[in-house]
Amino acid sequence: MKKSLLVLVTIVFAAAALTLSALGSGTPSVQAQSGYGQGKPQGEYKQDKPYTQENPGPWAGSQAKHVPEITYEKMGTGLKVTVKVDNHAMDPAKPHYIMWIRLEDGMGKVLGKHAFKATDPAPVASFELKSVPAHLRAFERCNIHGIWMSEAKVELK
Ligand SMILES: [Fe+2]
Repeated sequence: MKKSLLVLVTIVFAAAALTLSALGSGTPSVQAQSGYGQGKPQGEYKQDKPYTQENPGPWAGSQAKHVPEITYEKMGTGLKVTVKVDNHAMDPAKPHYIMWIRLEDGMGKVLGKHAFKATDPAPVASFELKSVPAHLRAFERCNIHGIWMSEAKVELK
């Protein structure tokens, strides 16, 4: 009787040990799933595409402060392009500011980029291009409201 009880207790402990072992081996895959995306930079703003005048995402009503304004003038055989987001505050206390402005042509080639500090007076960037692209795209990154984009077709008189 005692021997059979000992065998039964042994079997129960063995089953419990196997169950714990199986649960234990499952833990890493559960952690891997719950840790999805851990390799991405912390605090990076997530959006699928840049916001525009027509598609401001969750920031409807904020277009006037975020859509980049593109102006250009002929400069020799090239083009001087100015991109402004100057309705936007540069507030180092909050902070809330324009982090950068980037200029691309219509094919997505980067023509220039200008980084700003929150203490800079205004987010305005000038780019002197040696040739004249047919199309310009300006992007800006607000540290709170994400990336915004506007486009301009280049038409010289
Ligand atoms: Fe903003």
